[in-house]
Amino acid sequence: MRVIAYVVGMESIDEKLIDRVDRYVEALCARQDAALVENLKNAERAGLPAINVSPNEGKLLSLLAKLSGARRILEIGTLGGYSTTWLARALPPDGKVITLEVDSKNADVARMNLKLAGVEERVEVRVGNAADTMRKMTAAHEDPFDLVFIDADKPRYPEYLKLALELTRPGSLILADNVIRNGRALEASPSDANARGVKAFNEAMAAHPRLESIILPIYRDKLDGLAISRVK
Ligand code: SAH
Ligand code: DHB
Ligand code: MG
Repeated sequence: MRVIAYVVGMESIDEKLIDRVDRYVEALCARQDAALVENLKNAERAGLPAINVSPNEGKLLSLLAKLSGARRILEIGTLGGYSTTWLARALPPDGKVITLEVDSKNADVARMNLKLAGVEERVEVRVGNAADTMRKMTAAHEDPFDLVFIDADKPRYPEYLKLALELTRPGSLILADNVIRNGRALEASPSDANARGVKAFNEAMAAHPRLESIILPIYRDKLDGLAISRVK
């Protein structure tokens, strides 16, 4: 049994067991079809980093979208469109995902993958700095989103939270990936800018009078977490 100690103190977790549990749940509940497997192959071939959500987290996103009856979804951080595909498949036929990506190469890979998955009609990829795009959406009084999934540059997470609150309505869900960062978010003053960003996000989210929130620990190779908030 391999037991690894984490930086945040004396705690240790049985990484091998958690990994087996993650694969067990995936085999039972979150099997990928050919389009999702192909999505990741295309992303790898194009040189994109393998920082997409895991199949289990994709399934969780899809269930949250369905349980909340989401018809309009905003995603911040597209990469190759892997999480986008899970979200788009959870929509009713007239639903829409708008996904924001700063890198036009990633956006091209995503558009190809979304077409392969047959969801391109339900997804719009907008290229540009996500915060600028969101401010434009607010100024244009675009319809509110039922679900926002934050998964782009971690130092801007607190800003994305503020902007997401302007683009949602009471009852909407605001989700944010990677808010634990293998425990680095728990440090008093993280040396890493990404961990500092998600730590500030977590504190702002937890203290926000218009949000009811929880953080769900998520394991895939490292311990991380998904923040889930309901807008009051
Ligand atoms: N949601 C994806 C993974 C996203 S990875 C999935 O799970 O499949 C983070 C993405 O955010 C990268 O593609 C990166 O280019 C993009 N990104 C980083 N900074 C950004 C910014 N300022 N605006 C928009 N996208 C950004
Ligand atoms: C990173 C970003 C992600 O969105 C993710 O899911 C995992 C890692 C990163 O930038 O390191
Ligand atoms: Mg992520």
